[in-house]
Amino acid sequence: MEIEVHLCADKVKPPALDKLAFGKVFTPHMFIMDYEANRGWHSPRVIPFRKIELHPAAIVLHYSQTIFEGLKAYHGVDGKIRLFRPWDNIARLNRSAERLCIPKVDPDLALKALKTLIWIDRDWIPKEKGSALYIRPFIFGSEGALGVKPSSEYLFVIILCPVSAYYEEGFNPISIYVTDRYVRAFPGGTGDVKAGGNYAASLKAQEEAKTLGYTQILWLDAVERKYVEEVGTMNIFFYIEDKLVTPELTGSILPGITRDSLLKLATHLGLKAMERRISIDEVIEGAKSGALSECFGTGTAAVISPVGKIYYKGEEVLINNGETGPLAKRFFDYLTGLQYGEIDDEFQWTVVLEDPFRQSQ
Ligand code: COI
Repeated sequence: MEIEVHLCADKVKPPALDKLAFGKVFTPHMFIMDYEANRGWHSPRVIPFRKIELHPAAIVLHYSQTIFEGLKAYHGVDGKIRLFRPWDNIARLNRSAERLCIPKVDPDLALKALKTLIWIDRDWIPKEKGSALYIRPFIFGSEGALGVKPSSEYLFVIILCPVSAYYEEGFNPISIYVTDRYVRAFPGGTGDVKAGGNYAASLKAQEEAKTLGYTQILWLDAVERKYVEEVGTMNIFFYIEDKLVTPELTGSILPGITRDSLLKLATHLGLKAMERRISIDEVIEGAKSGALSECFGTGTAAVISPVGKIYYKGEEVLINNGETGPLAKRFFDYLTGLQYGEIDDEFQWTVVLEDPFRQSQ
């Protein structure tokens, strides 16, 4: 399918991009494609960024039939634009679609849509290291109907935001609050896909953590409220003695692409890495004894975010004296080195963006 392109009448210049609040500034164009049950996906197009008109009974507004992805485009030190593992995001988008009864998109078309849109708005990719263009593809049920059933109409949209660090702390350690009152996901639920409803259900706990002065929530498993699962917007890693440990994917944890990259990178760097269940008691005791020397979150938006303080059951423990540890720094440098083209990409994770219009001639 050909992607139609309708450009803005005037060229819009990016604003000064020094201090960007995450996800508040959008580029001048967006991608949109429609689905109707009798036509399938059709009319892929890039259009000037605009509001979307919705039927008040649109299924997404009532029953949260919506999924999304998050990935980034980086302006490299060599002037090239790189995407990081975009096909993995597209594959996860389709896994999320399957779980929420949303029709899948053609992966080749989705990648072409990403590349076309980013190329058109490439002047909006910030050039400073640490900044990037955050890419948000999403699909939602748009049929106006109040019965609880899968929508017969959908929109697939991609929007772009120039961004700097996700957390105000930047690469400085964040603090996390462990809740055993609320849960994010449960066996058989949607915790392992990127469904909008997962995030809606997390807001209450997140707000309570913020009121108490913590940056993020650390979720425990829903059954025993004992095993660590993930942080609000990231997967979580612990460095215990000489092993890098992250919770194994039990079905209620999001299989993060940065998480997977780190596990592979750890092995490449000669570290012992493992996925296993890890109890909150082991984390707290390890922090107290010093066996746990580092903790950090991983995610596309957050990249690598060191954790300096954990609160659990009335007690606060420091990790690595509340400071960024050497391992988090080493991973951060390696990962961003690949993304900004400073390090040879032995993993073939990056895709260099080329002019999609020239390719199709
Ligand atoms: C990402 O890291 O891309 C995410 O999707 C987290 C987010 C909800 C900001």
